[in-house]
Amino acid sequence: MKKILITGGAGFIGSHVVRFFVNQYPEYEIFNLDKLTYAGNLENLKDIQKRSNYHFIKADIVDEKAILELFKKNKFDGVIHLAAESHVDRSISNPTEFIYTNIVGTVNLLNAFRNIWKDDFSQKRFYHISTDEVYGSLGEEGVFLETTPYDPRSPYSASKASSDHLVRAYYHTFGMPVVLSNCSNNYGPFQFPEKLIPLAINNIKHGRSIPIYGKGENIRDWLFVLDHARAIDLIFHKGKLGETYNIGGNNEWKNIDLIHLLCDIMDRKLGQSEGTSRQLITFVKDRAGHDLRYAIDSSKLQKELGWKPSLNFETGLEKTVDWYLNNQIWLDNVTSGDYQKFYNNQYVKR
Ligand code: NAD
Ligand code: TYD
Repeated sequence: MKKILITGGAGFIGSHVVRFFVNQYPEYEIFNLDKLTYAGNLENLKDIQKRSNYHFIKADIVDEKAILELFKKNKFDGVIHLAAESHVDRSISNPTEFIYTNIVGTVNLLNAFRNIWKDDFSQKRFYHISTDEVYGSLGEEGVFLETTPYDPRSPYSASKASSDHLVRAYYHTFGMPVVLSNCSNNYGPFQFPEKLIPLAINNIKHGRSIPIYGKGENIRDWLFVLDHARAIDLIFHKGKLGETYNIGGNNEWKNIDLIHLLCDIMDRKLGQSEGTSRQLITFVKDRAGHDLRYAIDSSKLQKELGWKPSLNFETGLEKTVDWYLNNQIWLDNVTSGDYQKFYNNQYVKR
């Protein structure tokens, strides 16, 4: 039986990846390692927590000794590394945490993996999950390719870029069996309501204003989270060692157009008259260093591994809205306590 460690499995994307692997591969033992920060929530995995091939480990990837001990004890054959501080706005108000978790944490995992296999890596694999934000900001034209030079512009993307470089350095220097992917903006169930789509859904539900940074003209490429999980499965099993794969939805939206679409879906679902939610849109001070546009060319992944996105955006967004409307308790739980403090600092005091 293979032992696979998934880090950050209690977070948004990680919980979908853990569920996917636990269901798809009963012959694997899946270990979910997570510190359970504000973004980690074991409620996300309630449906699989008792499965015999699932184990949870509460640990901090920044804790070098603890990580090495865990690797020595469990001898993981594969690592899928998602644990990270992931929110750009938090990286602007507190960059240091991002350096520890995203850079030092990644190096600790690389070192522990190297240490237990003593550089004999046959049948082993270390998969590092990253973001398209490492490539910087596009103008109106162009797309990110795997060969696009890195140009990170926020503390979040700079910390992810740094970890990507280190993972590649371990491949070249030590022959570590690594593979990487850089994905565009994900959306779907279980996303913490600090990110645009769940934050807007939650605010519309409560009749609160929807904060749009600047003029709402920034563009993101959006991918349904389960399509990312499917890509991760393919790349983990079939990706070529040392290679990077871009993952994207071929689905670019200006923030303001996305929010208009979301408002219309919400009005319909809540039985409100058309235009009600749009009245909540409020333009607020722009994010510092706000990247204008991200767009991904995922043709390498499509051609080499046969992946493509399965859902169109309207369908995915409807599914997402339905999930949030049907999971009020989850939303209430994650927005109590510390969330109020974050929300006040980010939106009320500014
Ligand atoms: P998330 O913030 O929802 O979850 C992160 C998880 O990591 C949480 O469960 C948290 O508890 C855990 N974690 C944080 N610090 C830790 C530490 N020191 N030790 C152990 N666990 C720790 O993030 P997400 O949106 O699910 O993103 C997951 C990964 O995917 C990240 O590496 C992110 O950079 C990458 N990514 C995200 C997106 C996106 O749109 N969300 C897009 C591309 C890539
Ligand atoms: P976000 O979900 O934070 O993802 P990222 O910054 O990683 O792309 O933001 C998506 C876009 O929405 C981004 O251009 C910033 C913008 N945004 C707002 O306009 N208002 C908000 O309240 C948030 C959280 C984001």
